[in-house]
Amino acid sequence: MMMKNCKPMRILSGIQPSGKLHIGNYFGMMKPAIELQEQGEAFLFIADYHALTTVNDAAALRTMVKDVALDFLAAGLDPSKTAFYRQSDVPEVQELAWLLSVITPMGLLERCHSYKDKTAKGFAATHGLFAYPVLMAADILSVQSTVVPVGRDQKQHVEVTRDIALKFNNQFGEVFTIPEPSIRDSVAVVPGIDGQKMSKSYGNTLEIFGELGALKKRVMQIVTDSTPLEEPKNPDTCNAFALYKLFATDEEAADLAARYRTAGFGYGTAKKELLAKINEHFAPMREKRAELEKNPDFVNEVLRQGAEKARAETRKTLQAARRAVGLE
Ligand code: ADP
Ligand code: TRP
Repeated sequence: MMMKNCKPMRILSGIQPSGKLHIGNYFGMMKPAIELQEQGEAFLFIADYHALTTVNDAAALRTMVKDVALDFLAAGLDPSKTAFYRQSDVPEVQELAWLLSVITPMGLLERCHSYKDKTAKGFAATHGLFAYPVLMAADILSVQSTVVPVGRDQKQHVEVTRDIALKFNNQFGEVFTIPEPSIRDSVAVVPGIDGQKMSKSYGNTLEIFGELGALKKRVMQIVTDSTPLEEPKNPDTCNAFALYKLFATDEEAADLAARYRTAGFGYGTAKKELLAKINEHFAPMREKRAELEKNPDFVNEVLRQGAEKARAETRKTLQAARRAVGLE
């Protein structure tokens, strides 16, 4: 696929290592991120420098980075198609971030929502958190990416990146490709077991790589209404059905919906069928994850090779930027 400006499509996205994955993360972020590898030259990194703006437990950070790497490889990320790496394995992005920092207007950062949102949630108001969008711009510009797929909450950061890149190019000459955001609006919000958005902060998640007995218990706890067994039920207002639809074919969903509408159908049946679907969907990934866990050398080698590729691209960009500003 080619972009308007005839540059081959180069896709980059980053993921903060943020704890145990749930079904909401999987459908909202992970699956779309992995599908990128079919659309062009893909770069996907674990944003550990960014995570430091909110995580201050070294052991927890190490564990989360390892978990994200295993989760993505188990879920189908193909390292021969996607350069998969840790952000901190490409330290050149920090120098690039500085070259961007010195031309980034304060006002541009002051308008960013994420700093206000995070400090309102109680995270420390640090320079790193404030400058977060500049480092993100450096990530995006470092490999000259053309497309940046992100959730809606990150759109502003990609717009900031464009502003910074245009300003740099105007001031010093054409160094950076101007990227386009690609917003994943098509992915619906996955409900949690209580019907609110599934989120680790609401304690309503179904973990995809958690223990099977615990998963079963959680599925059986999905909140449903009190329509008596003998009365027909409405699938369209039922959390168990909303989750089932994520895994089922159209025919399977239509079949279950028809059974909801017949007298004598119980929510317990729907939950059992949902559990079977979840298990069926994630079983191969669980197996693969267990295998990968026994093979840390493989995982480290994937990340090393991914970083090597990203680093080579970043060095080229950095050298052009250093030359443009007069450091070389
Ligand atoms: P959480 O809400 O559990 O803390 P994060 O905010 O860390 O999850 O989200 C990580 C990624 O997963 C983001 O890209 C976000 O859009 C996606 N995501 C999280 N929860 C859901 C959900 N319930 N439905 C769809 N996508 C989700
Ligand atoms: N800020 C992004 C998030 O919280 C993660 C991220 C860091 C990122 N650098 C990036 C995403 C570059 C896309 C491109 O989800």
